[in-house]
Amino acid sequence: MEGMNGMTTAAGTAAHDGVTGAALSAAGLHREYGRGAAAVRALRGVSVAFAPGTFTAVMGPSGSGKTTLLHCLAGMDRPTRGTVRWGGTEVSGLPERRLAELRRTRVGFVFQAFNLMPAMTVAQNVELPGRLAGRPPERARVGEALARVGLAGRERHRPGQLSGGQQQRVAIARALVSRPEVLFADEPTGALDRATGLEILGLLRAGVDTDGQTCVMVTHDPVAAGYADRVLLLADGLLVDELTRPTAAQVGERLSRLGG
Ligand SMILES: Nc1ncnc2c1ncn2[C@@H]1O[C@H](COP(=O)(O)OP(=O)(O)O)[C@@H](O)[C@H]1O
Ligand SMILES: [Mg+2]
Repeated sequence: MEGMNGMTTAAGTAAHDGVTGAALSAAGLHREYGRGAAAVRALRGVSVAFAPGTFTAVMGPSGSGKTTLLHCLAGMDRPTRGTVRWGGTEVSGLPERRLAELRRTRVGFVFQAFNLMPAMTVAQNVELPGRLAGRPPERARVGEALARVGLAGRERHRPGQLSGGQQQRVAIARALVSRPEVLFADEPTGALDRATGLEILGLLRAGVDTDGQTCVMVTHDPVAAGYADRVLLLADGLLVDELTRPTAAQVGERLSRLGG
């Protein structure tokens, strides 16, 4: 075990798993909340890999474990059992400080509710995670990240002065400013109208196609899933199906069979 851990650490910051080539993978993930009779088994043995430069949608009925899976994959929650690897690095067993440090540089996370600080400017919001970690990004990188999401010149605005779609773009810039290998998004269009949501999906798709970003997105919208290369279907804490380049109609049909 000691030797294996040593090898894992030596692989260090490799962006891709030297053995499988995956940007991200999980093996045998279990996540239980609570104990005994009241325990909820949110994940019951999920194994999955994500190739670099691919866009995956995670779907399934409410309560099927989508958010729990995303949080475990992103290092924001610890699986009860099983392992998560980012490229060549196994992260599930790392001490909290080391995990937090890696999380800041290796993965980005976008939430349904944007989670911006209303009293801060757009630029300050984008800088915040780095600043909290004692490594604020260079001003030029903040400008680049904002330009990439179509918000060049909005540095000094406050979130309240922006539309919902623009606020989600700020959140995406905040997630991308550290140039993470993997971008996670949990229902990123859930709080937006259809047209604005499609713009956000186009942005995520462009990051995959242009920059080789790896993207993992939870959605309950078959149209949103149609932007992905692959759709994973979760039910009751298990991966039950996988569709490659499906149409929205195919996704809707599979989902309705799961009762989602
Ligand atoms: N912090 C928590 N404490 C207890 N149960 C939880 C917690 N988070 C999620 N759950 C339960 O785990 C299951 C999966 O939840 P979740 O991953 O949020 O599902 P989804 O995102 O697919 O709706 C649900 O039964 C939910 O009630
Ligand atoms: Mg959820």
